[in-house]
Amino acid sequence: MSRAVRLEGLAVDYGRTSRRAAVPVLDRTDLEFPAGSFTALLGPSGCGKSTLLGAVAGFVRPAAGRVAVGGTQVCGPGPDRGMVFQQYALFPWRTARGNVEFALKRFGLPRTERRRRALAALAEVGLADGVERYPAQLSGGMQQRVALARALAAEPDVLLLDEPFGALDALTRTRMQELLRRLWQRTGTTVLFVTHDIDEALALAERVVVLGGTPGRVLGDHAVPEGPADPALRARIAGHLGTG
Ligand SMILES: Nc1ncnc2c1ncn2[C@@H]1O[C@H](COP(=O)(O)OP(=O)(O)O)[C@@H](O)[C@H]1O
Ligand SMILES: [Mg+2]
Repeated sequence: MSRAVRLEGLAVDYGRTSRRAAVPVLDRTDLEFPAGSFTALLGPSGCGKSTLLGAVAGFVRPAAGRVAVGGTQVCGPGPDRGMVFQQYALFPWRTARGNVEFALKRFGLPRTERRRRALAALAEVGLADGVERYPAQLSGGMQQRVALARALAAEPDVLLLDEPFGALDALTRTRMQELLRRLWQRTGTTVLFVTHDIDEALALAERVVVLGGTPGRVLGDHAVPEGPADPALRARIAGHLGTG
């Protein structure tokens, strides 16, 4: 399944204490991500991309407004939203299969179903031969495949990725981008992909939302046409980023 994500006047502050006023990190933001869409959230470091994604994941509490997934308000993390981080965050003492199975435990699935799903997800990301290996026996790209399988095995409606390929070498990164596009086309999951790399955003997404400023806000919102890269579109987006 896939479901739409809506940000309705979403604002986030950090650091409110009894002595200090809150620091606004994300300005009131309205955005709609239709069910099954693939959007890149592009912006410089510190503009609130991870904060926005965290609010959708339910790790970050809004100061104002709300996030709704499939019309239901987000109140915390849930199995309908899968997350992939740049740091793979795998347990070193569990195998690839063990890591994916462990993540499924909290959903109350029986053991045989956890195993079935873990093996299917690992096969889907091209790791059928590596399921019994430990993270230390896997390359960075393979570890990120495990992290992707872990998110997919829960069969989420929404896939949230926070600069997931930032630590990978260029060739591995391109392969992972192709894998992600294939997975999205097959599952129809709604994808929100955070990156600070304009070319990665354009290579992957159907739509690029540019964030920037302090506090962060939407500076641009562009549909990316299918087909060869459009230099004029790239220049417009670079203009928003101030890197044109
Ligand atoms: N837990 C936190 N407490 C206080 N400030 C934070 C916290 N997390 C992030 N920030 C600040 O909020 C701003 C946005 O951070 P973040 O969402 O991580 O940006 P991005 O992902 O775009 O680099 C930054 O200025 C950062 O320093
Ligand atoms: Mg970030």
